[in-house]
Amino acid sequence: MPSLPLPSATGNRQLAIENDKNRPSSPDERLPSAAVSVILPAAGSGTRFGAPANKIFQPLAGKEVFLWTLERFAGRPDVCQILLVVSPADAETMARRYGPALAAMNVTCVEGGPTRSDSVRNALAQLSAAAGFVCVHDAVRPCVRGELIDAVFARAARTGAAILAEPVAPTIKEVDPSGRILRTVPREALWAAQTPQVFRRDWLLAAYAAGAQATDDAQLVQALGHDVFVVPGEPRNIKITTPGDLVMAEAILSHQA
Ligand code: C5P
Repeated sequence: MPSLPLPSATGNRQLAIENDKNRPSSPDERLPSAAVSVILPAAGSGTRFGAPANKIFQPLAGKEVFLWTLERFAGRPDVCQILLVVSPADAETMARRYGPALAAMNVTCVEGGPTRSDSVRNALAQLSAAAGFVCVHDAVRPCVRGELIDAVFARAARTGAAILAEPVAPTIKEVDPSGRILRTVPREALWAAQTPQVFRRDWLLAAYAAGAQATDDAQLVQALGHDVFVVPGEPRNIKITTPGDLVMAEAILSHQA
């Protein structure tokens, strides 16, 4: 594998040193073009969704779920590459139905693996040399707003690693296999992880080099000893898992319009 340029302290500074309102405060603090490679894992089987086709192809407010997600990142001046990770079972459909649209958005398709971590790892092998940072965002979170993408990019540029997350609202119970409550878990310090999750390129590559599996990328980066910071997300950044989530997403998107 060719050696990859690593983000330097100077590179970090160039990516974004933004003020508290996430706005550049002087010309040389603006985001340069082409700094972030975006990986959109879309190669799940969608078993929980219960439809024969992958849920990424479900129609949602006039277009397919994954197209909403793609359009959140396509055309951003700070994005140099979009890698859409597609399951082998969907590759033919993707090329036949969406090939021209993907080409127009400069999207590269990558073959997915059996787990989400395998899919992200396959995409990491295709990173552009221009990318100092990598953003991983579930293709089934089509409602993420541009302002939140701006905020998590800016936080990662300052710290090396940042994710969207939400403070946990319900009272949380730990329960044994018989259904008996063992304890109530204090929720003050609990946050539910969302995506996008954004990392220095060298940190994410190292995190994946060991071959570990995880349900999100922050766990793997943290396991290497790096601090990962949360940026408050919002409940509207839902992950589409069941048909009911699609109804919710329709309502969210109609309010965003
Ligand atoms: O299964 P889950 O809903 O957690 O998947 C989160 C995201 O990861 C989805 O966008 C899904 O398509 C993707 N995924 C993948 N490869 C897998 C499993 C999931 O790209 N093997």
